[in-house]
Amino acid sequence: MHVITGNALLSERLSHLHASSEAQTYAEARRQFAGSEAEFTALAQRYAELSPESKGKFLQSHGIAVQDAALSLAISPEMGEFLCNMVLSKAAKSILELGSSNGVSTLYFAEALRLRGAGKVVATELDESKCAALRQNIAAVGLSDFVDLRRGDVFATVKQLDGPFDIVFIDIWADGYLDIFQAIEGLLAPGSVVLADNMFTSAEAVRPFKEYLNAKPNICNTTLPFESGVEFAVVL
Ligand SMILES: C[S@@+](CC[C@H](N)C(=O)[O-])C[C@H]1O[C@@H](n2cnc3c(N)ncnc32)[C@H](O)[C@@H]1O
Repeated sequence: MHVITGNALLSERLSHLHASSEAQTYAEARRQFAGSEAEFTALAQRYAELSPESKGKFLQSHGIAVQDAALSLAISPEMGEFLCNMVLSKAAKSILELGSSNGVSTLYFAEALRLRGAGKVVATELDESKCAALRQNIAAVGLSDFVDLRRGDVFATVKQLDGPFDIVFIDIWADGYLDIFQAIEGLLAPGSVVLADNMFTSAEAVRPFKEYLNAKPNICNTTLPFESGVEFAVVL
């Protein structure tokens, strides 16, 4: 079992949010794909069976790129459970989430903090309608006290924050990973964990970030072959 299933109200909202995010992404991929409906269905089936490492290249080779500001692009339930477990295992109290969209990952972080009885996740998002949805989502499940939402460009937002953060989750547009990591390095301390999503699905765009981490003597990092590819870095 997972603790998330123990909160029926939250589980119900998350199921709805995951389903609508997946439907949006599927519809956008269909819109971009030039072939027939049958060809698209076959393509979607092949995609579902691919290893995480192959997914990015597969989409690229079919001319599909679903990084669109209008979409929710929420993390998967499996990734959410992983994030929740990270908070519980580290007894984390201060979390910085870079790219919150409608708040799906925020909900997993906030629920873990609620279970531990303390802490805040600083959620960051540029889009006002997504911020409104995030506020509504956290209020509907009674998690507002564990979330500090900062609306605006994340590069401006992080300049106003004080660290250190126990966990930082990077989930903005992939070509911004290196710049945002460099912008938040001062908010980290020994033992801080930095997680970054989409390391496989956006492998080309995140390459400068990956190479930068690999070369840093005070960072111990590895890419988990899980979901979209998750960078797991620990500050020494
Ligand atoms: C992949 S989505 C995040 C999904 C979210 N973590 C979830 O699980 O629901 C990326 C989000 O980052 C936001 N974003 C991208 N660049 C940004 C920036 N410079 N400042 C603030 N938000 C940004 C986008 O608007 C988008 O909503």
